Amino acid sequence: MSVPVAGRASADSGESDWHAAWLPPAAFRELGSRPVLVHGDGLLVDTVLDEVSRACARYGGQLWHGPPWQVDADLVLALREAGPVPNAAAEAARLGATPAVNGTGDGALGDEGYLLTRASGVTVVLADAPAGLLYGMFHVVRLGAAAFDDDLPARRHRPALNRRMLDHWDNVAVHPVSGQIERGYAGGSLFWRDGAARHEPARLRDYGRLLAACGVNAICVNNVNVHDTEALLLTDRLGDVADIAEVLRPYGIRVHLSVTFAAPVVLGGLPTADPLDERVRAWWAAATRRVYQRIPDFGGYLVKADSEGQPGPFAYGRDHADGANLLAGALAPHGGVVRWRAFVYDHRQDWRDRSTDRARAAHDHFAPLDGQFADNVIVQVKFGPIDFQPREPVSPVLAAMPSTRLAVEVQATQEYTGQQRHVCYLAPWWSEVLRFRPRGAAGRTIADVAGAGGGLVAVANVGDDPFWTGHPLAQANLYAFGRLAWDPLLDPGAILDEWIDLTWLPGTTGDPEAVRRTMHAIMDDSLRTYERYTAPLGVGFMVRPGHHYGPDVDGYEYTQWGTYHFADRDGVGVDRTRATGTGFTGQYPPPWSEVYESRERCPDELLLFFHHVPYRHVLHSGRTVIQHIYDTHFAGVEEVAAMRERWRLLAGAVDPAVHDRVAERLDEQFRSAVEWRDQINTYFFRKSGIPDAHGRRIH
Ligand code: GCU
Repeated sequence: MSVPVAGRASADSGESDWHAAWLPPAAFRELGSRPVLVHGDGLLVDTVLDEVSRACARYGGQLWHGPPWQVDADLVLALREAGPVPNAAAEAARLGATPAVNGTGDGALGDEGYLLTRASGVTVVLADAPAGLLYGMFHVVRLGAAAFDDDLPARRHRPALNRRMLDHWDNVAVHPVSGQIERGYAGGSLFWRDGAARHEPARLRDYGRLLAACGVNAICVNNVNVHDTEALLLTDRLGDVADIAEVLRPYGIRVHLSVTFAAPVVLGGLPTADPLDERVRAWWAAATRRVYQRIPDFGGYLVKADSEGQPGPFAYGRDHADGANLLAGALAPHGGVVRWRAFVYDHRQDWRDRSTDRARAAHDHFAPLDGQFADNVIVQVKFGPIDFQPREPVSPVLAAMPSTRLAVEVQATQEYTGQQRHVCYLAPWWSEVLRFRPRGAAGRTIADVAGAGGGLVAVANVGDDPFWTGHPLAQANLYAFGRLAWDPLLDPGAILDEWIDLTWLPGTTGDPEAVRRTMHAIMDDSLRTYERYTAPLGVGFMVRPGHHYGPDVDGYEYTQWGTYHFADRDGVGVDRTRATGTGFTGQYPPPWSEVYESRERCPDELLLFFHHVPYRHVLHSGRTVIQHIYDTHFAGVEEVAAMRERWRLLAGAVDPAVHDRVAERLDEQFRSAVEWRDQINTYFFRKSGIPDAHGRRIH
């Protein structure tokens, strides 16, 4: 390994400076206290061996790999291609499984899948590729004692989505506005510090373990906004990227790079970056060849073009298919993909102009290009049409490009959901998005769309904070992201249970049942609590411009950003109908084009996203809009007060450092929620003149 070791222990040793998150040593107790047989070879099999041997050293088990075999193993982890397994029960499972899982059809295990069973007193994991063995081992860890209790019928496990990726918005050099990590709320970057690579492989390796244990298999190591220093990662600083790739490779994680579309100009000295210019093509081809010489399993490029000031093909009169296909051409010989973001809109809008609608932009730009992208282009689409708000409709782009590989992008970093000072368990929201059927009950789900080739992507929420995510409970979002990307049909509550069981093991907590109850009571509905005390009924924003924390109802109202609520004395909301508004509803296929168009049929929670309505408009809930605003804002604050009280009662039952950190954050969440409530209620009371039906205090 070419990376100098920084000399800090890994979390697995129990002695590191950082929290073990969902892989505390005790999570390996069951696996580590038994005879374990590992059969097969390969880089990721070595990772399995390393994990098992460390667990066995800690808990008294034994690891067998190669002759002389200990045939009485309790756990067998075997690559099928390694041949007969020297354990009767495991060999029976291997032979029994063969007809069911051979070939490439539905029964196959694939590159990452595995078969898990327990029979005749032996738990068996079979895989066809080393990555499958690694994921299977982590499944055994998740099951804990249940992996060794009763028989388990043979079951095949394969990821629904092949691409499960985290995008780090990390800068190499500290940016004067966005800092070391753009929209980062968990300290510094794991990769970069003050203009250079950190070279701290111990921490990075632990990060790789955490990601592999929840199923993530790709990361992008730098911000989508590519500044001068970061542009050099493609060329002069490529060695730093190779070092990261080397540390993460044993965990099955492929590294990607954000690149600037202007690279041929800013790095190559060419007079143009025109995608149809031969010199530009040749430059990208050569640069990409050099990348693959250093990093043979490099994943590909991520590009934010013609978006919020980033350069792109529009400067040359070309479209986004021209731009994406240029990079796709350079990557194709090496098996890489270009992830081309659909987050393209006019960020210099005139607020007086009522015809331009930011929500329309991605569809306007990209839907007409369906079918024109090369096979190795993935168009990466934010889940909603605006920008990661706690409530938005699903982006119509996801229904409009059947001939294009689409990735769905969500935001684990809590830019608009309390910046890791507020508790917001995001998995229920992501699950709702993934289960949504843009063409109605008979059509495909968003998970199906993502599963057709592009996968699921989250903007990462981690940093060098000892708890990884600033707010310790935000770890659950990272864990849940990986699990949902593996299987979008998992229940968010069940995922939370997995995270609780792994992270808050008996022995590290005084009262496991109280911990579980409290976590669920605080987290299950926490995003909706946040929604209740912030912007109402899908209208969005109302945050402080720039940093996006805390309330500022009119903060964006007269700006260039296209995020308006249009509140006046009579009503509030954005008219996006075809009949009288911006026509955005027409970007949806039926039935949603009709549902959203109709004020009567539009779901309450999205009403102000699609319609401008009077304050006395009556919702399906039976309440008026204005009374809904008052009620939800009072309720939201009460819910935060209850969360805080629940957490207080856990003092003594969980690690004091975690308890203190969460308690401190809940205090801030409460303060902030009160501020939100009072500003929003006061604002709408002053605009409308309509008093609260319950006579509560409004300022
Ligand atoms: C948001 C965010 C930016 C980010 C952008 C993006 O607008 O505030 O910081 O660069 O999304 O997704 O590219």
